[in-house]
Amino acid sequence: MTTIEKANIDWVNLGFGYYKTDKRFVSNFKDGAWDEGALVDDENIVMNESAGVLQYAQTCFEGMKAYTTVDGKVVIFRPDMNAKRMSDTAKRLEMPVFPEDKFVEAVEKVVKANLKYVPPYGTGASLYIRPFMFGIGPVMGVKPAPEFQFRIFTSPVGPYFKGGAKPITLKVSDFDRAAPNGTGHVKAGLNYAMSLHAIVQAHKEGYDENLYPDALTRTKVEETGGANFFFVTKDNKVVTPKSDTILPSITRRSLMYVAKEYLSLEVEEREVYLSELSEFSECGLCGTAAVISPVGKIVDHGKEICFPSGMEEMGPISKKLYDTLTGIQSGKIEAPEGWIKVIA
Ligand code: PLP
Ligand code: COI
Repeated sequence: MTTIEKANIDWVNLGFGYYKTDKRFVSNFKDGAWDEGALVDDENIVMNESAGVLQYAQTCFEGMKAYTTVDGKVVIFRPDMNAKRMSDTAKRLEMPVFPEDKFVEAVEKVVKANLKYVPPYGTGASLYIRPFMFGIGPVMGVKPAPEFQFRIFTSPVGPYFKGGAKPITLKVSDFDRAAPNGTGHVKAGLNYAMSLHAIVQAHKEGYDENLYPDALTRTKVEETGGANFFFVTKDNKVVTPKSDTILPSITRRSLMYVAKEYLSLEVEEREVYLSELSEFSECGLCGTAAVISPVGKIVDHGKEICFPSGMEEMGPISKKLYDTLTGIQSGKIEAPEGWIKVIA
């Protein structure tokens, strides 16, 4: 139970942005080993001009959230899954793995040190937790950096998409997010760097986000720039795209479990073709930042696919999924074993 005095923030009107909080965790990898790490005040980083991250984008990150529960506790959702995904990412990017148990301990330390920024229950906001790691030592030839830094900072956030739970419109992108055998399945900073031009273009054209089709055939649904997809069939089956080149979303994996075990819905992970989009009754995005964001319309080169759930509110199955997932995160619904870590 936390009795800590909260920061003076307009929680209800928070968007998804960076807000400096008091403490961040820093650990350095030098001579083949991670140091103990510590909480620090300084949000700025000084590094060599030839650091691996600056020259060859050797950087990766994670994202999770801390919530205040209905009974006033502060909890985080499945941080062990983020720890595991970050170690998978680190291996793919030739970076040293930050030990998974130490990752979870560090997340806990940072949240404890920033309790006053964990939004109160009922505000719709949460404390976003951003672990990241980058090559800080100098490189000249194309090779992994000799030294790395691992950090975690936090920032109170509101909804990722303006308008909160209002359905959004997506554009089928002409750009590729991830190549076959590339890095789409890990959380590399470079995946986001190369999506910036596509998102700026999509925003200019009035879309909220991009739907990236698979790069090889451009016939299958992959994901958006920052979230996985789920679809609902007319007979209420929850379908999610199967692909080796999308990020294995922790929210999506949790949702599929919730759909099956809590809501007794049929679930299916399979290839989803652009040509079958018009057959679904609901579509949504899922992710830590996106939570569950309903999609009302997808535009595929002039062809509009409008989901029957419309542009005003979430469809009924998406709403049930949303209520159950957020109910688990806020302590209103009992969580599956091991999903909730109580911090304070
Ligand atoms: N896909 C991409 C590209 C993402 O950046 C994210 C965000 O982390 C997700 C999916 C959702 O993953 P998760 O539910 O683990 O946050
Ligand atoms: C997340 O949901 O945590 C993400 O990383 C998505 C986006 C903010 C990059």
